[in-house]
Amino acid sequence: MIGPGAAKFITFEGGEGAGKTTQIRRLSAYLEALGQAVLQTREPGGSPGAECIRTLLVEGEPDRWDAETEALLHFAARRDHLVKTIVPALKAGTWVLCDRFADSTIAYQGYGHGVPLEGLEQLYALVREGRRPDLTFMLDLAVEAGLSRAGTRSADGVAPQEDRYERMGEAFHGRLRAGFLEIAASEPERCVVLDAARDEDTVFTEIMGIIEDRFLK
Ligand code: TMP
Repeated sequence: MIGPGAAKFITFEGGEGAGKTTQIRRLSAYLEALGQAVLQTREPGGSPGAECIRTLLVEGEPDRWDAETEALLHFAARRDHLVKTIVPALKAGTWVLCDRFADSTIAYQGYGHGVPLEGLEQLYALVREGRRPDLTFMLDLAVEAGLSRAGTRSADGVAPQEDRYERMGEAFHGRLRAGFLEIAASEPERCVVLDAARDEDTVFTEIMGIIEDRFLK
């Protein structure tokens, strides 16, 4: 039984093509079938203002921004998303399932582009409204497999112009994969690493088991 005030803030992280969006959709349907209100959202984006900032971030040439500017844009989008979308939803008793959150900035702009991690932590403290995700799933996948899946997604006609990060090169993607794993190792209570090379059903069964264990007993 899920009691009142039990709505959780759950984030999904990982490199390109790890299957976050599919798993969010499935978890949302599962929770709704249990009678829960669920909001599916994403970063960068998730509020009108943050969606405007998203366009600046995901389109254009890979070297469009210097790394610090880019980190500031992600945190500006995150602040708007938190204040306008995430916090009101949680207060209303709605579960929030978010495709990427602050760990992506630590991994991409920190580990990937070399922005000092302490600076990123300070920005996170400034914007986060005292909130952190209750649980984070890290979908881990070999870089080559992820980029090839993400390439297929673009070829399928899903926002093909949003490929700025996918074009940043394998070494970059390798650094951010290692970054996600380090974050998970440093916060084992919050983060669960999932092997995303397995088929979609197997990954979802593991996700459901973890949600049941942590929140639905
Ligand atoms: P998406 O492809 O998962 O929608 O995310 C858009 C891109 O933005 C993705 O390539 C990762 C990148 N990103 C960052 O570099 N830093 C961040 O803080 C976030 C949220 C996303």
